[in-house]
Amino acid sequence: MARHLITSALPYINGIKHLGNMVGSMLPADVYSRYLRQRGHEVLYICATDEHGTPAELAAKEQGLPVDEFCAQAHDAQKAVYDGFALAFDYFGRSSSEQNVEITQHFARRLNENGFIEERAIRQVYSPTDGRFLPDRYVEGTCPHCGYDKARGDQCENCTRVLDPTDLINPRSAISGSTDLEVRETKHLFLLQSKLQHEVEEWVAAHEEEWPQLAASIARKWLNEGLHDRAITRDLDWGVPVPSDTWPELAAEGKVFYVWFDAPIEYIGATKEWSDLDPENRDWKSWWYDVDSDVRYTEFMAKDNVPFHTVMFPATELGVREPWKKVDYVKAFNWLTYYGGKFSTSQKRGVFTDQALDILPADYWRYFLIANAPESDDSSFTWEHFTATVNKDLADTLGNFVNRVLSFSKKRFGEEVPAGGEPGEAEAKLGEEIARLLAEYESQMEALQFRKAAAALRALWSAGNSYLEEKAPWLEIKTDKDGAALTLRTAMNLIHLYAVVSEPFIPATSAAMRQAFALKDDTATWITADEARTLTALTPGTPFTVPPVLFAKLTDEDLETYKERFGGSPE
Ligand code: MF3
Ligand code: ZN
Repeated sequence: MARHLITSALPYINGIKHLGNMVGSMLPADVYSRYLRQRGHEVLYICATDEHGTPAELAAKEQGLPVDEFCAQAHDAQKAVYDGFALAFDYFGRSSSEQNVEITQHFARRLNENGFIEERAIRQVYSPTDGRFLPDRYVEGTCPHCGYDKARGDQCENCTRVLDPTDLINPRSAISGSTDLEVRETKHLFLLQSKLQHEVEEWVAAHEEEWPQLAASIARKWLNEGLHDRAITRDLDWGVPVPSDTWPELAAEGKVFYVWFDAPIEYIGATKEWSDLDPENRDWKSWWYDVDSDVRYTEFMAKDNVPFHTVMFPATELGVREPWKKVDYVKAFNWLTYYGGKFSTSQKRGVFTDQALDILPADYWRYFLIANAPESDDSSFTWEHFTATVNKDLADTLGNFVNRVLSFSKKRFGEEVPAGGEPGEAEAKLGEEIARLLAEYESQMEALQFRKAAAALRALWSAGNSYLEEKAPWLEIKTDKDGAALTLRTAMNLIHLYAVVSEPFIPATSAAMRQAFALKDDTATWITADEARTLTALTPGTPFTVPPVLFAKLTDEDLETYKERFGGSPE
């Protein structure tokens, strides 16, 4: 069994994330982690809040809090939402941790020793009105590439190009709005990525074939444009300080590392945070440093993050000249749109993850989002699609099946799995179908094809419905009591199978299904092909209870309420 290291892009600390953020990083990483754990693999799923940089400072300022206090609170608030979504991180850390400071500074020293860092005087935007330099998001203006007029100094949200504040047309201060900006000279550290171009190219070439096309093509595009030397320090109060032993002058000026330098290193930092809590039993280095090929590292992210993960962070890791684990598989996602328009944190459009949980339990969202993940293309969230999917797949196909089977059996045979006769042709046919669909589900999960995996899961649920319709135990019981009992026992075995295999998507509902049979809360026992084919794992006499309705049907009235509250269109 392999050891799987899994990370999802670190959510920025500056606010509660929307559903689009969730579907492109943390949620699929959780689904995949849960699946692998169930299959008996050793899994370490690490995530953290990305706390440095201008977004954090700006958000803290907006709330009138010191940045460290703001971050501590905002971290807890995000963590609470992720708990609500049942994201089973092994650890959810903070990029401002001392562990990350230590490792980031170590990386910088090593890069420097290896000749990949250089001090350079550069021209930076300075605002006399604000009395400070304005790095990254502290400057806003018009994107020189696409003309979007709310582009930020670090990246254009519209065309995803990475920018430098001095690139912006009609720049203005994000703090004061002042357009009285000048350019002043100041010293910064540069990472000489151009010197690493060749090595990164070789490394990408050795991996891209295995990556999904979206990740490979973005990496290629980035490499073709050429790796540029980039400033990795900033004039900010909040960040990983430049170590004074190596750069006394810059440290005295209070320079800190750029957020994109320390953020990916926090994947390692958070693992050490996790390990430091129980050092006797947890060995962070065994996941990251000089590891055998038995560690397989999978990263989850949205497409705007791909260049940083396929090119820039690997360049850093290569330049350190120490055997740090590099990513094996990059799972990248397109955008989830809201009625075809952008979900936007800054413009508060779309559904935020905390609001989603106010409305409905996590499993409704988890299933819908993964079943419609923007994998091969952007996909659009609409309330119409959401309510229709919940009603059809979750309420009718799965929930109704479970309730119908268990209530009917209880009424006619009492509160134990009935025995019934020997399985016949219908059961053999069902077993073949279930075994085939289970194999399909497994192979799609292993290929990280989430929409296809969801389709296979849905097909497993549907197969139960078809069987039940075909056998119609409510009629069968009038003429053949044993036959009806066999049908119900087989259907209950399907429920047991659903409880196990649906767990990665809908963990709370899976737990409810397991509890119906008072099964131990042991999700780590996967269904074997033989169990799928024979559907006899649940033996006659096993006691059961009828769980409360698993999924409520959403009404037209609900739909109208949602649309009214969130707006039915992007404008
Ligand atoms: N916070 C970044 C974003 O939301 C992602 C950081 S991922 C990491 O786009 F690699 F830097 F950690
Ligand atoms: Zn642009």
